[in-house]
Amino acid sequence: MKIAIVGAAGRMGRMLCALAEANGHEVVSKVDVAEGYEKTWKDGTEGVIDFSWHAAVPASVARAADQGIPYVIGTTGLTAEEQKAVDAAAGKIPVVQSGNYSLGVNLLLELVRKAAATLGPEYDIEVTEMHHRHKKDAPSGTALMLAKSAAAGRGVDFDENAIYGRKGDVGERPVGEIAVHALRGGSVVGDHTVMFAGDVERVEITHKAQSREAFAAGAVKALEWAKGAKSGLYTMRNVLGFD
Ligand SMILES: NC(=O)c1ccc[n+]([C@@H]2O[C@H](COP(=O)([O-])OP(=O)(O)OC[C@H]3O[C@@H](n4cnc5c(N)ncnc54)[C@H](O)[C@@H]3O)[C@@H](O)[C@H]2O)c1
Repeated sequence: MKIAIVGAAGRMGRMLCALAEANGHEVVSKVDVAEGYEKTWKDGTEGVIDFSWHAAVPASVARAADQGIPYVIGTTGLTAEEQKAVDAAAGKIPVVQSGNYSLGVNLLLELVRKAAATLGPEYDIEVTEMHHRHKKDAPSGTALMLAKSAAAGRGVDFDENAIYGRKGDVGERPVGEIAVHALRGGSVVGDHTVMFAGDVERVEITHKAQSREAFAAGAVKALEWAKGAKSGLYTMRNVLGFD
C-alpha cells in the first residue's frame, strides 16, 4: 500500500516508517509539523496512520474522509469535540482507533473483562500505568481502555465509578470505585497493571511493552485490514477478530 504517516518525525512515527517499509509498503508521505517534513500527504495515498497530537486529528481524518481512504488512529488524548470529527469521518471511511495496538494489551483487555466479571465488587480495582518522561497526556489511553474493560466486565458505568489519583482527605474507598493512576519517568515504553485487591488475596494482571514495535506492527496490520473494510469505526478487537 501507498501509506502516509502523520507524526512521522515522532518516536512512533519513525518506527512506523521503518516497519511499514519492512512489511512491503511504500511510505509515500511523511507528515509532521517538524522542519523538513511534508505538511500533508500526496494525492494517490491509499491509507493513513496517525500517531501525532490529538488536536491534529480532526482536520486530518476529515481530509481522508473526503478522499475516501482508510485511516488508523493511534494518537491518544482526544477531547470529546475532537472525537466527534473521528465519528463523523467513520461515516464515510473505515477508521480504526485504538489506545493500544499491541497484541498483548488487546489480549489483556479480554482477561481484565473476565477477571472483573468473575471477582465482583468486593475486589477493589486499581489501574496503574507507567510511561517515559516525554509522554504528554495522562492517564494513558491504554489505562483508560483497561479501566473501561473492567467496568464492562463488572456491568457498571465507567464514568460514574472512575477516579484519577488521590490526594488529601479523600475518605474511605467506596465500594465499586475504579481508580486510575499515572506514573512518569525514564524511558519506560509502557507498563500497565490492573489490580483486583480483595480481603484475602490480590490478583494483578500486568503488561510491559519492551519496544514501540509492538504498537507499530499492530497499526500497520490495522491499516491492511481496514483497506478491505466498509466505512465505520473499528478497534483492534475487530482487526484481531475478537468480535
Ligand atoms: N495507540 C497506541 O498503540 C500508541 C502507542 C504509543 C503512542 N501512542 C500515542 O501516539 C501519539 C504520538 O506518540 P509519540 O510517543 O510518537 O509522540 P512524539 O511526541 O514523539 O511524536 C509526535 C509527533 O507528532 C508531531 N505533530 C504534532 N502536531 C502535529 C500536527 N498538527 N500535524 C502533524 N504532526 C504533528 C510532532 O511534531 C511529533 O513529531 C501520542 O498521542 C501517544 O499517546 C499510541
